[in-house]
Amino acid sequence: MLNCETLIRNARVFDGNGRVPELADVALLGGRICAIGAPLRHTASRVVDAQGLALAPGFIDVHTHDDLVVIRRPVMLPKLSQGVTTVIVGNCGISAAPVGPRGALSDPMNLLGSAEDFRYPTLAAYAQAVATAGPAVNVAALVGHTALRHNHMDRLDRVATAAEAEAMRAQLSQALESGALGLSTGLAYAAANFASTDEVRAVAQPLASAGAIYATHMRTESDAILEAMSEAFAIGRECRVPVILSHLKCAGIDNWGRSGDVLQALEEARRTQYAGCDCYPYAASSTLLDLRQVDARVQITITWSTPHPEEAGKALADIAEGWGVSQLQAARKLQPAGAIYHSMMEEDVRRILVHPATMIGSDGLPNDPRPHPRLWGTFPRVLGRYSREERLISLPQAIHKMTAMPAHRFGLAGRGAIREGNWADLVLFDAETIIDAATFEDPTRPAKGIKSVWVNGVLSYTAEGATGQRAGHFLRRGASAWIQ
Ligand code: ZN
Ligand code: CU
Repeated sequence: MLNCETLIRNARVFDGNGRVPELADVALLGGRICAIGAPLRHTASRVVDAQGLALAPGFIDVHTHDDLVVIRRPVMLPKLSQGVTTVIVGNCGISAAPVGPRGALSDPMNLLGSAEDFRYPTLAAYAQAVATAGPAVNVAALVGHTALRHNHMDRLDRVATAAEAEAMRAQLSQALESGALGLSTGLAYAAANFASTDEVRAVAQPLASAGAIYATHMRTESDAILEAMSEAFAIGRECRVPVILSHLKCAGIDNWGRSGDVLQALEEARRTQYAGCDCYPYAASSTLLDLRQVDARVQITITWSTPHPEEAGKALADIAEGWGVSQLQAARKLQPAGAIYHSMMEEDVRRILVHPATMIGSDGLPNDPRPHPRLWGTFPRVLGRYSREERLISLPQAIHKMTAMPAHRFGLAGRGAIREGNWADLVLFDAETIIDAATFEDPTRPAKGIKSVWVNGVLSYTAEGATGQRAGHFLRRGASAWIQ
């Protein structure tokens, strides 16, 4: 008789690779999946009856800004409650590491936390801090280009000199040696918008030999999006590195309906180079309050404001009316501030979501007092709303986008698939009832239908809530095995 710690019986097992589910028992031992069979004859100290439930690899949130929150609030309830077992931090050019204490923070670094929270001058120091904090989910990290600029440039409204680019490159190399997954940029933000394509190329040099990836919040997601995509693909080709377009979308009413062209450009690139994207399942974006995105035709909600905290949660149009000024003038008075922009067309969101190149990433902002509901709802919304209710995509395919696909692309070895020997990151859920509960009005409600979540074999979440066990690891980059 074989012995194991946890035996999950009679689950509909979705392996993560997109295949139809099979009924099986799954046994866990020492943090890993030790056997899969129908039935298994193992004895176990804990047996879970999974009759009628779906068992999938734990979801990988490929696009997060959880860099500092995994240390400060390691319970990670917004993610755990969705079945997420790994978060990738360091997106959009901003990362907590490598960044040492260095006076004021520039936008949008402040999305992650305040200046005194940035105290990890190397990725190794950050990895150590994550290990010490012991978050409930695994953490893997990109290095942000804006963070590197912040470290090595006196001002950000210009191109880096050759010496500065060299210093950034050296720092990226060191972080890659400590297990960073790759480089991210946030070229749309003022802090990186002045960087030329050449600057990014120069910094990105060490990625290829490390087998790392390039993820980009492109220079623009509105009118000139095709040009911005060309820039991203050129960097990928010239630096021989896979490209991930972050939170791919067609932003702004004038760009509604362009997802067909955007996806065609992506498909064209994919004929000759590794390229893909991630997205979140909502027709509204959220970031800093950006004057360029203020448009009276778009519904904008303020999520926070430093000079006017009392306006958080209100519509910009109402604030402007109350103050008797234009929306642009009101926005100026509210800055620095955060906002939600209902600026996408649902049809574009759907088309991008179901495309075979697309992974799922929440882009959730954990520091927002009134966050965009994507922070708490992204993964169950894809499974419940878009797969089950709208039948836009099959359940095995939807799960694939959140598990094996990102594990392969980012080189998360031993994760993303239910297979003997893999780490036991698992989510047990009811495919008939799983659904997001967070809304724009009530954005921090945990999703429904998640029954159990194991992280590295440890039961970390049940329908009653977090178990208090926090078993996440810091994950170093393994061999990437990109499958288009
Ligand atoms: Zn972004
Ligand atoms: Cu982001």
